[in-house]
Amino acid sequence: MMKTLIITGTPRKKGHTIAMAEYLAGQLDGEVEWLSVDNRKDITPCRDCRYCFTHPKCAIDDPMNEIYAKLDAADRIIFAAPVYFYNIPGSMKAVLDRLQVYWAAIIRGGRKEPYRKGAILLVGGAPESERQFLGASTTFQYMLDDLGAVCEGIVTMGGSDKKGLAERPDVRKKLDELAERLCQNGSDN
Ligand SMILES: Cc1cc2nc3c(=O)[nH]c(=O)nc-3n(C[C@H](O)[C@H](O)[C@H](O)COP(=O)(O)O)c2cc1C
Repeated sequence: MMKTLIITGTPRKKGHTIAMAEYLAGQLDGEVEWLSVDNRKDITPCRDCRYCFTHPKCAIDDPMNEIYAKLDAADRIIFAAPVYFYNIPGSMKAVLDRLQVYWAAIIRGGRKEPYRKGAILLVGGAPESERQFLGASTTFQYMLDDLGAVCEGIVTMGGSDKKGLAERPDVRKKLDELAERLCQNGSDN
């Protein structure tokens, strides 16, 4: 059965990010697991100690180990977050900087070819503008690359201070299309 891991980074449990992710999740086949990485005080930020340059694991032994296991088991990885000052929220990034161990496969050797699917969902309170999602989408795209996931789409919803998903048929349509791409050949892979 296909396993989708949805990683969210918002403190607002009934906010726009969760609404978008729930709408998408409702259309996915297989099993969907939710993982919030907001305000994870139990996870130490990356120290750039470079242990992972020579070992395929992180030197820090903390609950990030459970997240690595979830990431390794996923067939699809979805990142979902609001933009805070043009990037992903700091508390989410502090956790995701620990993905350095996946990036470091470039240095260790044996980096895997892309073998699974990914997607990115982003929300911004301000009216839609050209560079609104550039920082956050660049960050997530590089993370998906390092995780061996092909980005099947980036769906953004600007203007969330005024309108939510219920009033945004355009965004819902993009999520429908993304769900279709994520499910294509799903059960064969
Ligand atoms: C610290 C902070 C910084 C923010 N910076 C931006 C920004 O740069 N661009 C933007 O469009 N919205 C910005 N916002 C608004 C959030 O993106 C908006 O409130 C969003 O709907 C929150 O998503 P949520 O409902 O899933 O929590 C910011 C909000 C906070 C709290």
